[in-house]
Amino acid sequence: MNHPVMQGLAINPPAYVKNAKLIAWVADMAALCKPEQIYWCDGSDEEYQRLCQQLVDAGTFKKLNPAKRPNSFLALSDPSDVARVEDRTFICPQNKEDAGPTNNWVAPAEMRATLQPLFDGCMKGRTMYVVPFSMGPLGSHIAHIGVELSDSPYVAVNMKIMTRMGRAVYDVIGADGEYVPCVHTVGAPLQPGQKDVSWPCNKTKYIVHYPETREIWSFGSGYGGNALLGKKCFALRIASIMGRDQGWLAEHMLILGVTNPQGKKYHVAAAFPSACGKTNFSMLVPPQGFEGWKVTTIGDDIAWIKPTADGRLRAINPEAGYFGVAPGTNYHTNPNCMASLDKNVIFTNVALTDDGDVWWEGMEKDSGSFPAHLIDWQGKDWTPQIAKETGAKAAHPNARFTVAAVNNPALDSAWDDPAGVPIDAFIFGGRRSTTVPLVSEARNWVEGIYMAATMGSETTAAATGQAGIVRRDPFAMLPFTGYNMSDYFQHWLDLGKKLAAAGATLPRIYTTNWFRKGDDGKFVWPGYGENMRVLKWMIDRIEGSGQGKDNVMGISPSYEDLNWTGLNFSADEFAKVTSIDQAAWAKEMELHAELFQQLAYHLPQELKATKDALEKRLAA
Ligand code: OXD
Ligand code: MN
Repeated sequence: MNHPVMQGLAINPPAYVKNAKLIAWVADMAALCKPEQIYWCDGSDEEYQRLCQQLVDAGTFKKLNPAKRPNSFLALSDPSDVARVEDRTFICPQNKEDAGPTNNWVAPAEMRATLQPLFDGCMKGRTMYVVPFSMGPLGSHIAHIGVELSDSPYVAVNMKIMTRMGRAVYDVIGADGEYVPCVHTVGAPLQPGQKDVSWPCNKTKYIVHYPETREIWSFGSGYGGNALLGKKCFALRIASIMGRDQGWLAEHMLILGVTNPQGKKYHVAAAFPSACGKTNFSMLVPPQGFEGWKVTTIGDDIAWIKPTADGRLRAINPEAGYFGVAPGTNYHTNPNCMASLDKNVIFTNVALTDDGDVWWEGMEKDSGSFPAHLIDWQGKDWTPQIAKETGAKAAHPNARFTVAAVNNPALDSAWDDPAGVPIDAFIFGGRRSTTVPLVSEARNWVEGIYMAATMGSETTAAATGQAGIVRRDPFAMLPFTGYNMSDYFQHWLDLGKKLAAAGATLPRIYTTNWFRKGDDGKFVWPGYGENMRVLKWMIDRIEGSGQGKDNVMGISPSYEDLNWTGLNFSADEFAKVTSIDQAAWAKEMELHAELFQQLAYHLPQELKATKDALEKRLAA
């Protein structure tokens, strides 16, 4: 076979790559980005180890003490490149209305003209890695393929953990199969002889999605959701568009299995905004009083959900690993996660201990004390005294671990099942210190969609590096829906109608709020494993035995409807997390009205009608 040669650069695809369109695209991108060489990732363990060693040699990775954290590495990013950049994220369909008011839009031709000079020569002096990946089990009817071209070996090794990455992907796409093309550059070309830095990036950043051609272009950041393009860019933004067009759902949801002592198993998909404890909930350990119950993880962040012929919704986790927030994780909040992090982990922006291990805020709860000395996420000395004086965090609040799902001791046996798991309930959970009760069940599908659509949440460090500002976050998808939000609501409504018409029992829809605070500013609900008490109430409701009473927003349990064995939580405290404050709700409804005003174009009539009905109920 004759391989294309660009300006003396051999494209040299391995013999097992048969897809002519893909080879031509790699040649085109190489001509544009002008890397020094091209490397086709095969996804092997040997390759992973080799690239990790290369990252160690380059100073990007530090190998952790193998006696403490076998086969694990720490990367410290540039201090300016620590989180997703929502203000630099663009959805670029032909028509502005198709991106909708919640997305940044630029016309595709204009965006292409902007990106062209930025990408021209952007990989000079670097290697272009060709990273083939499957989102979802290889060959699953719910899965889809992507190929990421990146000049970052950090991206290549993270993609190996986060996706099914490697040569088997080429068998799935064969000679003419489809894939989502993803181009990523750190935007830091090297002049001949120029020494590289440990975390190259560019202060100009663009995370761009072209819906019509299903392309992703990412410039300037090496970090997580900006750079691992299978995750937020493909599995949520582009996939939500594919789902709209093809009749399925791509959601910012964990998926868990919950098995009762009789062995009956249910599956729940739950949407929470970024860094609101999705990983914790997906790995929940049932507390005292729930002997015989089992919670197992299918996914911790993203769900792809497709209807089957019988009208049931079946879900897969398109990812193969967890890219989770480290700070706050400890043996109390998430013992399964801590066990997952024992070995084979890439840490980013956590602190380094003097004995070559990692540390982050929250770990002191396990050990009972702070380490006397650390190197913090910016490479500076850190001591408890310095922290006291300057407020310096040892780990960045959005510091992350990247770890394979198979490390998780609570991994569900069906996590890799190409058929997916049947969904019995959806949960939507915002972070609200007031107003929203612990749990409510929607009276019907439309009311559930309304509750999800109007969800508000206090922001966390994952998105902006800043915490504590309340914003509406419909379906926890505000930064991730790849098209007009009102059309997205309509898509959920239409899907419900279609499933009901097929005679299916629709999944129940719940909202939760683990985050109500008391007058002392402290969380009232203990959360973590204790959330099992709420989960069990949901299962009781599905089984028909769970009691509840009507409130403004759906149906809620009374104190005696939850199992309290093993937890000291009084009826008074329960009232604090479930009370409905009429005045607060009147204000809340004003905020819903503001949201609906913003989303007026194509806002479904059913949602307006639901709002009217809620307001009547509130006034009554
Ligand atoms: C994430 C996020 O990284 O939601 O999962 O920001
Ligand atoms: Mn997320």
